[in-house]
Amino acid sequence: MIVEQIQLVDFRNYTSATFDLMPGVTAIVGRNAQGKTNVAEAMAFLATLDSFRRSPTAALVREGAEFATIRAAVRHADGREVSIEVQIQRQGRVNVQVNRQRLARTRDLLGVLRVTVFSPDDLELVKGAPGERRHLLDETLASLALKNDARRRELDRIVKQRNTLLRQAAGRLTDEVAFSLDVWDQKFAVVGDQIGHERATLVAGMQPVVEEAYQQLAGAPTAVSLVYEPPWRRSGLAVALAAARTDDVRRGASTVGPHRDDLEMHLGALPARTHASQGEMRCLALSLRLAAHRVISQTTGMTPLLVLDDVLSELDAERCEALLNHLPGGQVVITTAGNLPPVAHPDRVLRIEAGSMVASVATEDGDR
Ligand SMILES: Nc1ncnc2c1ncn2[C@@H]1O[C@H](COP(=O)(O)OP(=O)(O)OP(=O)(O)O)[C@@H](O)[C@H]1O
Ligand SMILES: [Mg+2]
Repeated sequence: MIVEQIQLVDFRNYTSATFDLMPGVTAIVGRNAQGKTNVAEAMAFLATLDSFRRSPTAALVREGAEFATIRAAVRHADGREVSIEVQIQRQGRVNVQVNRQRLARTRDLLGVLRVTVFSPDDLELVKGAPGERRHLLDETLASLALKNDARRRELDRIVKQRNTLLRQAAGRLTDEVAFSLDVWDQKFAVVGDQIGHERATLVAGMQPVVEEAYQQLAGAPTAVSLVYEPPWRRSGLAVALAAARTDDVRRGASTVGPHRDDLEMHLGALPARTHASQGEMRCLALSLRLAAHRVISQTTGMTPLLVLDDVLSELDAERCEALLNHLPGGQVVITTAGNLPPVAHPDRVLRIEAGSMVASVATEDGDR
C-alpha cells in the first residue's frame, strides 16, 4: 500500500495544502511550529479516526473554520487506486467517503489504510501509565482485524455500564444488584477473555521483534522482555469477577479485567519504566512501534505507512544512523526541524512554512 498524496483543508494550521509522497522515503522539514506534527497527525487520523496526540476533534479543525478535510490517494499492491475523504466537524462528527461513496459505518475505514506513527510522546509507552501500553496493544489489534476494534469498544461499553450499576448500588450488594451484575458479568467475561487472549498472542508475537529492533537500534545485545500476565487470566475473567464482586461493590468500580491490565517491560533484568535511562526508553518505545509495524505487515500482508515524527532530534548520532539503516521496507515519512543526516537518503524533501508547502525537491540519488 502506497499513500501517493495527502491533502489537508482547514486541518490544524493548514488552510489548504497538498503533499505528494514517494513510495520510498519522503522527508518533511520545517522549523518548529510550522505544521510537521500536524501532517503526521492527519495521516494517522485516516488510519485510526483518532488523534495520536489525544486531542479533542475540535482542536483538529483550523481556528475559524467549520470543519476539516483530509484526503488521501492510496494505491494498493494489486494496483487498485482508492481515494479517501474524511471530514471532521468541530463537534466531533466524522464523515468518511471511500471512492466517493459514503461509508455507513465510519470505522470500516480502519482496514483501508494503515499507518504507524512514532512521535516523541511515545516515551509515555515506557514511562507512562498502563493505559498507554494497553492503547498500543489495542490499536495494533484493531489494525490487524476490525473485529478487535469492535470488541474493544464493546468492552468499554460494558465496563462503563457495570461501573454505573456499581455506583448506584452505593456499597450494598442486594439481590437486585447481584442479579444485574450476573447479567453484565456474563458478557464481560466473554469479551474480556477474548481480549486477554488476543493481547497475549500479540505480545508473544511482538516479543522477539521488539528485542531484535532494540538490539539493532542500541547496538548492544540487551535482552528485552515483555510480560503480559494479568492475574485474572489464570482463572479466567468469570471466576475473577466473582471473587472481586464484594470489593467491586464496596468501591463502586470494576477493579478486575482487561481495562486494568498492564504490559511490563524489562531491559536485561531491570523493569524499564522505573530503571531505564531516557535514551533507553526512547529506543524501547521506538522498538515497540517498529515491532507493531512489522507484525501488522506480516499478518495483514499490507505494509503500513511509517511516519517518524521528529525522531532524529531525540536520538544520538549512532542510534539515528542505526534507525535509518534498519528502516523496515515500505513507505516512510520522516519529519524533522533540524538537518537530515546523510544516511537518511530521502527520495523527496518537502519544506513547510506556516502551514504551506514552500518547496518540494525530488532527490534522484538521495543526496541532498
Ligand atoms: N486548530 C488549529 N488551528 C490553527 N492553528 C493550529 C491549530 N492546531 C494547532 N495549530 C498550530 O499549528 C502549528 C504547528 O503545529 P505542529 O505541532 O505541527 O508544529 P511542528 O512543525 O511539528 O513543530 P515542532 O518542530 O515544534 O514539533 C502550531 O503553532 C499550532 O499553534
Ligand atoms: Mg512537531
